[in-house]
Amino acid sequence: MSTETGPAVGTPAREYRIVPGPRGLPFLGSLLRFGQDPLAFFGRLRSYGPMVSWRFGPNSCVFVSDPECVGELLSETERSFDQPALGIAFRTVMGNGVVVARGADWRRKRSLVQPSVRPKQVRSYASTMTDSTVELADGWSDGDRIDVKREMAALTQRIAVRTIFGVDTPADAESMGRAMDVAQREIGKEFAGLGAVLPDWVPTPGRARIRRASAVIDAEVARVVARHRDGGEDRPDLLSRLLTAVDEKGARLSDREIRDETVTLYIGGHETTSSTLVWAWYLLSREPRVRAALAEELDRVLGDREPGIEDYARLTYTQSVVKETLRLYPTIWLVTGVAKEGARIGGVPMPEGTRVWSSQWVTHRDARWFPEPEEFRPERWDPESGDDVPEYAWFPFGGGPRACLGTRFAMVEAVLVLAVLARRFELVVDPGVVNPVPSLTLQPDRDVLATVRRR
Ligand code: HEM
Repeated sequence: MSTETGPAVGTPAREYRIVPGPRGLPFLGSLLRFGQDPLAFFGRLRSYGPMVSWRFGPNSCVFVSDPECVGELLSETERSFDQPALGIAFRTVMGNGVVVARGADWRRKRSLVQPSVRPKQVRSYASTMTDSTVELADGWSDGDRIDVKREMAALTQRIAVRTIFGVDTPADAESMGRAMDVAQREIGKEFAGLGAVLPDWVPTPGRARIRRASAVIDAEVARVVARHRDGGEDRPDLLSRLLTAVDEKGARLSDREIRDETVTLYIGGHETTSSTLVWAWYLLSREPRVRAALAEELDRVLGDREPGIEDYARLTYTQSVVKETLRLYPTIWLVTGVAKEGARIGGVPMPEGTRVWSSQWVTHRDARWFPEPEEFRPERWDPESGDDVPEYAWFPFGGGPRACLGTRFAMVEAVLVLAVLARRFELVVDPGVVNPVPSLTLQPDRDVLATVRRR
């Protein structure tokens, strides 16, 4: 595959029809089965066929898994499919930022935010990514015992706070980071727990914690924004880009909108990237052959210097390690849309109101495109390998009009972090299987502890 969104190789057209999936329970449908183990449940749906009907409580649903169908669902988001409204937890923290906004409001916001994460801008964030990782690496010694989740979360948090808010004093970064952490954790709990079905007006302790964390975030962001406005100079951070962005009518983002977008970028990008790195270390630790190939590339391309953005294009194997990690452990593991009138997928009409789902977890494990799908084989992504992988057989960053805005940012960050650390060290993760728990992102089910070994 040659690009970060996968190649545009056509899939053979086929005739689709909806086949009935599990009958489920009266009223509840398959809600409980889904809740117990969503990944296994989606895998089971796939065994019925590529287009399967099922019920989620009172909702009629269709699960699609062929790349062609996934592509139609994602490309037709907004036109033929609405994204379901996000719950109170998201709205409290992210306000009405680009993830939460819908319709014309979303279009305006997306066009305002997009320029701040273009490849040219990401270039200017790359040195912060490398510097932050070098600081971490300088603190590691041979034989150290580390908690990989904690180390990667702290690192990606430092990178996010610096690149988004330009905040570099430890005290500011810490209080901002702490409030974001609470907010993110509580959003995850709401998403995966009872909060997902409770009406917005029901007060819960989790919701109270989210409101408190959000109030801290409001105050922190307001302080940073005021400092940027007073300073007036052009800083190389995302916030500065947003402060100067203008929409088609020449209007700027209000302070509230700036707050919502910066927090949205933080929440959208932090845990997704840190979990990807944790899974990458886990997979690398189990595959000596892949570790050796990665080390060989880093030695050859970098020698004894640290990587910069100019190395990104040459670190092809490192990029493949990240892509293959995202194939096996897609941190965003489901996408969904609600059919509007006239919606169709694979030529099949989707009745208005049908909730259509697809899951990266399932489609990424299709042996037609990924032989021996459970194997961690970065070589699959070698541009020379000539494998015909259809577009949307791999979609960790979604696709269509609402595709991830941070794709380039995330890829560059993950590649530079791995390059800095794996050039110097191997992480020997403690034996034992780590299973994915699907919350807001695909999380390891336990601590991932490792011993640092200098190469
Ligand atoms: C490995 C890391 C990442 C993964 C796997 C990922 C995945 C995704 C996916 C699948 C979507 C679409 C969700 C949907 O259609 O429902 C999305 C949207 C989004 N992502 Fe990412 N993301 C990552 C990193 C980032 C980063 C670093 C940022 C910011 C710098 C970011 C910002 C966003 C935003 C703002 C959206 C919403 C776009 C819209 O609705 O128009 N993401 N991401």
